[in-house]
Amino acid sequence: MTGPLKIGIAGLGTVGAGVLEILHDNQSLIAARAGRGLVVTAVSARDKSRDRGVSTAAFTWFDNAADLADQADVDVVVELIGGSDGIAKTLAEKALGTGKHLVTANKALIAHHGVELGLLAEKADVCLSFEAAVAGGIPIVKALRDGLAANRVQRLYGILNGTCNYILTNMADSGRAFADVLAEAQALGYAETDPSFDVDGVDAAHKLAILASIAFGTKIDFESVHVEGIRNVSPIDIDFAKRLGYGIKLLGVAKQTPTGIEQRVHPCMVPVRAPINHVSGVYNGVVVDGDFVDSTIYEGRGAGAGPTASAVVTDLIDIARGLRVPAFGIATHTLKEPVTVPMSDHRGPYYAHLIVVDKPGVFAEFAACLRDHNVSMEQVLQQSRDPGEPVDVVMTVHETRESDMVNCLEDIAKIEAVVAPPTMIRIEML
Ligand SMILES: NC(=O)c1ccc[n+]([C@@H]2O[C@H](COP(=O)([O-])OP(=O)(O)OC[C@H]3O[C@@H](n4cnc5c(N)ncnc54)[C@H](OP(=O)(O)O)[C@@H]3O)[C@@H](O)[C@H]2O)c1
Repeated sequence: MTGPLKIGIAGLGTVGAGVLEILHDNQSLIAARAGRGLVVTAVSARDKSRDRGVSTAAFTWFDNAADLADQADVDVVVELIGGSDGIAKTLAEKALGTGKHLVTANKALIAHHGVELGLLAEKADVCLSFEAAVAGGIPIVKALRDGLAANRVQRLYGILNGTCNYILTNMADSGRAFADVLAEAQALGYAETDPSFDVDGVDAAHKLAILASIAFGTKIDFESVHVEGIRNVSPIDIDFAKRLGYGIKLLGVAKQTPTGIEQRVHPCMVPVRAPINHVSGVYNGVVVDGDFVDSTIYEGRGAGAGPTASAVVTDLIDIARGLRVPAFGIATHTLKEPVTVPMSDHRGPYYAHLIVVDKPGVFAEFAACLRDHNVSMEQVLQQSRDPGEPVDVVMTVHETRESDMVNCLEDIAKIEAVVAPPTMIRIEML
């Protein structure tokens, strides 16, 4: 282990170019910390002629990224292409299969195929490292897998998508609607042209599924994550939330309950004073509650060239140091089958928003629906109205079972004076 660690990088876009830059700019610092040099020997991307803002002239170029896995002068393959399947998966399998370490920033790949890749890494006695796949520059994988390894994790939750947090923060600050703020985020480069992976919660769900596996020692179970995005969050809900003492955040929550594990991504009302409510703009934040350490919080930039490359290179330094840590905290072949709690069994307080023609007796009808479904009201607020106009009515209810809340709102929707389908937002008590 005296020679330099030889690195092959597939994908030279935002993150790949960032990795080349950090390895160049902090070369001697990184070598001192790793105890040996880190050198890039080979690279691959689609278009060799593209200007990437960093020179690739010194590296052997491969048009086919999978060829990196065959090179004798590559010890570690770094996959920075993206996508859960296709060339990223082919390259990852081939690299681990030929005894190379694999470092990736690809959450979709790990969320869908992490267990199979972990088994391949275990068989070849090499590393599968993916710090950059979750919350960019925040070392949350390391914190959970290593720093908190002595604890039984009871719950973790976090803001795992910077695009959604940017949009919700701006909606709260400006009172503007989702579509307006999304368009601005796209113009500023904080949201993709096709924003669906981000705003529909899928990206956050990939990351949550990975963290839940490490936290609970279970196989990654992306399919069981309950996923809702932020498209339906309205300025009026944000305004009512403020009046009730809450902020609205897109949270990923993974929680051990007596009957199994809850994994869910959806907009949440969180108390204004909760630390997670102060994570704003493009920042990510994660809270992990352990049985002995209590509550710990991590905050930082969740994306971008610098923060993501920082996490990739930290994984490379660990490999250069000879650290061998199980990818998911325990040997992959010992990960348990997860028992997932269905969303209908979730219990918590709720906020509901109704649009109602205000006439005598309507509230008695609401009360009957609540009683019939065993739902107990906590507060109700009504927006002032012009005579004859429908009014916005919101209520919060005490902890109840999700299926009871959903059935209750279905019955409320049938009341003649209710002029639009009621909506609900879960309240997270933190
Ligand atoms: N961007 C972020 O802030 C961020 C944060 C965390 C994680 N990630 C993850 O990091 C990964 C890379 O993201 P990115 O933002 O850097 O993507 P990107 O800017 O779109 O770059 C993708 C790179 O992959 C190359 N590529 C595409 N198809 C290829 C193929 N068949 N063979 C070889 N190379 C191919 C592209 O080549 P050309 O340049 O020649 O087109 C490009 O260099 C993704 O998994 C992403 O989810 C990104």
